[in-house]
Amino acid sequence: MGATGKIALNISVVLLALIAGFYQIYLKHVLAITGVYPARIIEPLANTDCKTVPELQACEKIILHQPTGVIYLACSTPSSRAHWIPAANQLNATGASNKDYVATYDPATSHITRLATPDFNNGRGLSLHGMDVVPSESNPKELFIYLVNHRTPIGDKPAQEVGANSVIEVFKAQLGGASMEHVKTVSDPIIVTPNDVLGSADGKSFYFTNDHAARVGLSRHLEILGHKGSSIGYCHIDEGCKYALDKTHSSNGITSAPNGTIYVSDSIFGGVTALERQTDNTLVVAESISTERVVDGISFDANGQLWGATTPQGLTAWKHVANPKLLSPSSVHRISINTGVNAFYGEKYKVEKTFEDDGTLISGITTAAYDSQRKKLFLHGIASPQLAVCNI
Ligand SMILES: *[C@@H]1O[C@H](CO)[C@@H](O)[C@H](O)[C@H]1NC(C)=O
Ligand SMILES: *[C@@H]1O[C@H](CO)[C@@H](O)[C@H](O)[C@H]1NC(C)=O
Repeated sequence: MGATGKIALNISVVLLALIAGFYQIYLKHVLAITGVYPARIIEPLANTDCKTVPELQACEKIILHQPTGVIYLACSTPSSRAHWIPAANQLNATGASNKDYVATYDPATSHITRLATPDFNNGRGLSLHGMDVVPSESNPKELFIYLVNHRTPIGDKPAQEVGANSVIEVFKAQLGGASMEHVKTVSDPIIVTPNDVLGSADGKSFYFTNDHAARVGLSRHLEILGHKGSSIGYCHIDEGCKYALDKTHSSNGITSAPNGTIYVSDSIFGGVTALERQTDNTLVVAESISTERVVDGISFDANGQLWGATTPQGLTAWKHVANPKLLSPSSVHRISINTGVNAFYGEKYKVEKTFEDDGTLISGITTAAYDSQRKKLFLHGIASPQLAVCNI
C-alpha cells in the first residue's frame, strides 16, 4: 500500500471510530428516548374512563385552576397548525391562524367559554402556543394570563426566511368571566423562539423557554446531536428581559413547584431539570431527573407531584404536527418525590407512567394537568382534534 493509500485508510478508520462513538454517545440514546429504535410498542393505560370534548381543538397548553376545578386552554385549529408551528419549522404564514383563543372548560358542567379580547386590537391577532394562568397575589378572583404569541412577520421577507415575530402577551381576567383585558405585549431581542411561559402573581414578570437559539437556520437542527441551543429568559414589564440560564438543551415546558423551584423539560433527550431562583432572577441548575421518553408540557398537582406530557413515538409526532390527520400516540408520566426507604439509597424520584393511548383519544399530547382533588386528568395536544378528560 502506498503512502496515499495508508493515509486514506487511517482517515477511514478515524471516521468510522468517530461515527461509532457518535452513535454510542448520542444517536443510540436519542433513538431509544424517541421510541424509534428499539421501536416502542403502545401499551394502553388508564384511557378507558374518559370523556372527549371536540369543541376544543389544537390546545397546546392547559392550566388548571385548582380551587374551582376549571381549566384554561390555549387553542387553535388543527388545519392552521399544519402550516404554522414555528417551533417545528412550520412557517407558512399564509396558512397561519391569527384567531387563536383562550377558553375555559368546567368539567362539572361541560361548559365552554371562549374568552373575548374586546380591547386587544393590534391588527396581528393571536397565534398561540405556551400559556400560564396565575391568580393575582392581591385578589385571587383576578387572574393574569401569560401567552406565547407567534405573530406572523410583517415586512417584505417571508416567514421561511425570518421566522415568526414571537412575543409574550399579558392579559388580565376575572375568575368566571367571559373576557380578558390586555395588559401588555412584551417584545424583546431575548424573546427569540418562546415555547412556554411561567408567570408571576403580580402580573409584572415571567420566565419563558426559548426552544431554539435562532428563528430559522441550520443551528436549529443540531439539538439532536446534543447542541445546547435553547435557553430560559426572564422579563420584567418595567425593567426588560435577560437570560436567566443560557445554553440549555431543548428546553420546552416550564413550571414551578409550590416552594418556588422551577422545572424545565427537555423535548429531545427527555428528562426534567430543577432550577433554583437566585436573587437577581437568574437560575442555577439544582438537579436533573431523567425520564425514558421525550417530555413536553409539565405541571404540578396540589399534592406536589409533577405530571409530564410524554411522547411514545417521536417520529410519528413529527408527522402528526405536519399533518394532524395522522394520529400520534400519547402518554403521561408522573414524577414524585420518593419518600420510601430506598430514598435513602439515592432514588429520590419515582417516575411512573400513568397514562398511554394510541392517539385515538388524544393525539400528539403536549400538555397534561391533574386535578388531584377531583381525580381528573386533562390532556391536549398542539394539533389534537379534541380535549380528553380521564378519571384516574
Ligand atoms: C400555505 O398555506 C396556504 C393556506 O392554507 C395553502 O393554500 C398553501 O398551499 C400553503 N403552502 C404550502 C407550501 O404548504
Ligand atoms: C422544592 O420542592 C421540590 C418538589 O416538591 C423538591 O424536590 C425540592 O427539594 C424543594 N426545594 C427546596 C429548596 O426545598
